[in-house]
Amino acid sequence: MLIVLSWCMDSVLTIGEVSRRSGVASSALRFYEECGLVSSVRAGSGHRRYPRSVLRRIAFIVFAQRIGLTLEEIGRELAKLPTDRIPARKDWARLSGEWTKRIDQRITELQRLRAGLTQCIGCGCLSIDKCELANPADRAGRRGPGPRYWLG
Ligand code: FES
Repeated sequence: MLIVLSWCMDSVLTIGEVSRRSGVASSALRFYEECGLVSSVRAGSGHRRYPRSVLRRIAFIVFAQRIGLTLEEIGRELAKLPTDRIPARKDWARLSGEWTKRIDQRITELQRLRAGLTQCIGCGCLSIDKCELANPADRAGRRGPGPRYWLG
């Protein structure tokens, strides 16, 4: 009931309108809802109605997925937002600590990936000219499986 009252203060959108504005397919929106990442109410017709504020949640979900966060991780963070009112800036700020850490980790991983495109990554392939010097006779393999120089 509190959610519905809060939504009255916000305009409501159909799933098609949310899809058009967010750029996310209706099927994905329904999936997000099944996962508990977003919520809607049913209109008298039975169709879904979303508060306009859902667009910010969806934008975060899409970008968090792009940087490699799982839906579970995203769900855990979004669960910190209030459900009885439209999240304010201070509510979103509560999420930023953990997300900032994860984003920094992803940036580091992506930089390593970029650097690894032309470097020996210690994967055991011995296939590029740098391997002979960086990983003679697959010395990196003694440290364990996978691209050892990427894994750190
Ligand atoms: S790139 Fe695979 S071992 Fe060097």
